[in-house]
Amino acid sequence: MKHVLNVEQFTPEDLTRLFKEADIMREHVADPAKSLELARKHHGKQICTLFYEPSTRTRFSFESGALKLGMGVVSTENAGEFSSASKGETITDTMQMLNGYQFAAVVIRHPQTGIVATAAEASDAPIINAGDGKGDHPTQSLLDLYTIHRHFRRLENLRIVMGGDLQNGRTVRSLAKLLSKYSGNHITFVSLPQLQMDDDVKAVLDASGTTFNELHAIDDAFADADVVYWTRLQAERLDPANVLANGGFTLNAAVLTGLPEKAIIMHPLPRVDEIAVEVDADPRAKYFEQAANGLYVRMALLDHLV
Ligand code: CP
Repeated sequence: MKHVLNVEQFTPEDLTRLFKEADIMREHVADPAKSLELARKHHGKQICTLFYEPSTRTRFSFESGALKLGMGVVSTENAGEFSSASKGETITDTMQMLNGYQFAAVVIRHPQTGIVATAAEASDAPIINAGDGKGDHPTQSLLDLYTIHRHFRRLENLRIVMGGDLQNGRTVRSLAKLLSKYSGNHITFVSLPQLQMDDDVKAVLDASGTTFNELHAIDDAFADADVVYWTRLQAERLDPANVLANGGFTLNAAVLTGLPEKAIIMHPLPRVDEIAVEVDADPRAKYFEQAANGLYVRMALLDHLV
């Protein structure tokens, strides 16, 4: 694996290895002696984080993970404004420049679907896709799958309900494709009709034999769920008419009475108003733990790539 561009490139065996590595990273970070050892591992290497879209979790966990692995970090937030992209430099020219600075890896988030793959073609260093438009967010879905595996100790025969803005949310696209690599999973998509999951993802599910159904209201979707994966409206990618159409998809204590005790509630975050704050106290709510897991998964990826 040279680059991390999408979830299609990962086999279940790769994922098993990655999750073991993430567990090792977790142990090392928790142990002062082992974390010192870790901090010497990649001393002298640097990564570059190039974010053309805002981020809290993805950028900070990559940067924190790189520092814990002993690497330096060169970063720009809002790269569209603070890099020479604002003067019209293409991503290909930017990559050719970065080749001269010998980064061990470059992490890119960009609003344009597919452009991170274009960047990879011009890069000597491994490129990690930290989210490209409404395309893919592979490292998010890797940490999502890791969170599910840590809880259930399996990735097969699960019933997953994905809700919210399935049309513009890249995390649900990537996670659905990852879940299709395991047998016996069933996905229920809950969204407004104009925000439903794209046909290309449904084709991947069909090809793998992963069953799914689509609902436009929560109704009894939670009755036999193992995982509820909720998402916000991607206002930055939405027609204002659809933003106004956000109704009936807020999770609160009343809505969750129909969810089994064994289930977990996930969200890639940030949330806006689609999960009420009262749900945070529910033992099934795992979204902050999920975000924390991102550190270990991204450390494992960086360790492998560099
Ligand atoms: N889930 C996620 O990608 O969060 P950030 O936008 O804060 O990185």
